Amino acid sequence: MIDFKKAIVEMISEKVEGVEPSDIESSIEVPPNYDLGDYALPCFRFAKAMRKSPNIIAEELAKELGESDYFGKVENVGGYINFFVNRELLAETVLKEVHDKKDSFGKSEMGSGKNIVIDYSSPNIAKSFHVGHLRSTVIGNSLYRIYKHLGYNAIGINHLGDWGTQFGKMICAYKKWGDDEAIKKEPIKALQALYVKFHDECEKTPELEDEGRAWFKKLEDGDEEAKRIWKWFVDMSLEEFERIYKLLDVKFDYYTGESFYEDKMEAAIELMKEKGVAKESEGALVVDLEEYNMPPCLIVKSDGTTIYATRDITAALYRKETFDFEKAIYITDYAQNLHFQQWFKVIELMGYEWADKLIHTPFGRVSTEEGKLQTRKGNVILLDELLSKSIEKVRELITEKNPELENQEETARQIGIGAVIFNDLSNGKIKDVVFNWDRMLSFEGETGPYVQYTHVRAKSVLRKAGAEISQDVDYSKIADNDSADVIRMLQSFPETVVAAMEKNEPSFIARHIVDLAQSFNKFYHECPILSADEETKAARLLVVDSVASVLKTGLYLLGIEAPEKM
Ligand code: ARG
Repeated sequence: MIDFKKAIVEMISEKVEGVEPSDIESSIEVPPNYDLGDYALPCFRFAKAMRKSPNIIAEELAKELGESDYFGKVENVGGYINFFVNRELLAETVLKEVHDKKDSFGKSEMGSGKNIVIDYSSPNIAKSFHVGHLRSTVIGNSLYRIYKHLGYNAIGINHLGDWGTQFGKMICAYKKWGDDEAIKKEPIKALQALYVKFHDECEKTPELEDEGRAWFKKLEDGDEEAKRIWKWFVDMSLEEFERIYKLLDVKFDYYTGESFYEDKMEAAIELMKEKGVAKESEGALVVDLEEYNMPPCLIVKSDGTTIYATRDITAALYRKETFDFEKAIYITDYAQNLHFQQWFKVIELMGYEWADKLIHTPFGRVSTEEGKLQTRKGNVILLDELLSKSIEKVRELITEKNPELENQEETARQIGIGAVIFNDLSNGKIKDVVFNWDRMLSFEGETGPYVQYTHVRAKSVLRKAGAEISQDVDYSKIADNDSADVIRMLQSFPETVVAAMEKNEPSFIARHIVDLAQSFNKFYHECPILSADEETKAARLLVVDSVASVLKTGLYLLGIEAPEKM
């Protein structure tokens, strides 16, 4: 694909002395509207080197550059040079590339040989999978696909919350009041009820706490019964989680939860002591972080048990050793900001220069329109419920609007799930997400169904045309404004994927495909396709085919499927 920006840099570097090409490149802007060209170069930066006013420089350069193969027009407005790309050439270079590459458009080798560890989803055993975990799952899955698309070796880890003193309590409660049948029927619900009961009973009989602790000690010491019960909790919970992952089409390379680091913590703790980072304090082992304005990071509690942070530190050492990562990304709710800041600092204090490769990407809270925020107790929007509700609503819509549709069940799932994922990923991660069913499932507006529907529309035009899509077309037939708008959105898609990777922000891609869908729909209304003369039709069909392909890739990178019909 022709890189028009590079072309500008080359042209300008020839004429201007004393300015670095990289400075020219970083100065190039995309004007707010195309009346001002496709690219604009402010000349203020050259004033010193050239000893002329920016206006004069812009005027002289614009005149000198004149018309070229790449740019149909170059003119100046004040201190800016505006470049108007040759639209025929733009259409040709972009559409040929998309047509050749298909699903691989925007792929790159930039990440080749580099490992990116992504820690996402990570629900807690015997607890419900809530919308916070859904966000982590959806963001992580999208980043996983984005990194892969750019040639990185992404490694997906589900850091299950499957270890900690709470499991002693659970086992204790299970031994006392557990009902196997109830647990088998609805594992997580029954186990959570047991946990609540344990705490209620503790208020009356505080000694229970000790019993719980003793069970955790047994578990840590490898007691068979404790291990067996714990393993059963894990397996049953995982079965429930798997249902959700299947619905979302999400996969992990490793399910190495907190328990995986159980036999590795000792060495990590020793290391922290040896390096003088962790110190005794009132019977506990802590890392003092006062200097960094943070509370101390607890490593070993006074009763000898380890905590969440101990396991995260151990896991990071293990992951560095095993995967020698370029980045290790952790995706959680922003409520965990302090936790990550603390233990990242501990890694830094241990003298590991790779501490700066640890990245916490926090996300905002989720609420429903009714204002119900999910909290630790009650008011939890249950994920199962949320996903099935979304699918159910789409099913109703299909029955009403397109009862003849084949594959209704599968399509309802693709759209229902796609709507939830898109709703989650269409705003910056740190923003709170609101579930408003009508808005989220609408086929208009900036939604998943809208993008999916636009893809279906493009596919349907292609089916009706029935013709072979060729890149041997007359590109002057698609040099109009509406076509050019679409083509520009296709052209910049690869850059958007890179930007999304750099900022770990899938929303860039969501925005991009909404914009692409919007410009395509405008093109679709303004530029008749099937009724046009043969040459125009062939050129427009190439546009349609390219749009279908890029929308599908964009949706894929978000973790959303693109049905052929709906
Ligand atoms: N299990 C934790 C929770 O539900 C999230 C774990 C995130 N990953 C990590 N390495 N700390 O809050």
